[in-house]
Amino acid sequence: MTPEKLIDLAKEAMLRAYAPYSGYKVGAALLCADGTVYQGCNIENAAYGPTNCAERTAIFKAVYDGHRDFTAMAVCGGKDGNITGGFPPCGVCRQVLREFCEDGFTLYLVGADNTYETVTLAQLLPFSFQAEKHMR
Ligand code: THU
Repeated sequence: MTPEKLIDLAKEAMLRAYAPYSGYKVGAALLCADGTVYQGCNIENAAYGPTNCAERTAIFKAVYDGHRDFTAMAVCGGKDGNITGGFPPCGVCRQVLREFCEDGFTLYLVGADNTYETVTLAQLLPFSFQAEKHMR
């Protein structure tokens, strides 16, 4: 799976966004170690707080289906689905990724004009709380 293909799947997922309140449509494509890809979109709520981000939609779908070993994720987003720059995962999504992913887990953050930035989970969430390190 190339980064470009995973990015295309994130863009496809963005079309499913339910974002009537913010207008920001977000898509994610999560690559499992066995090659399976799970797509997710943001799902907003009139009460705002229950809103689920695209990244967590993808992760929760995958975990429900029995996947816990993840390799990479592509994320894209923008107002009305127009990608004008990177749309990095929020803090909550970073912590949810931390639960299942290693430091080297790779994220492709899609920018304007088919560009993308590559970052690792360790870069996005340094000095993080991890069950295996801190809950002994
Ligand atoms: N959003 C995501 O889907 N992923 C993120 O990591 C950042 C924010 C969504 C939530 C909300 O529906 C919209 O973007 C604006 O915050």
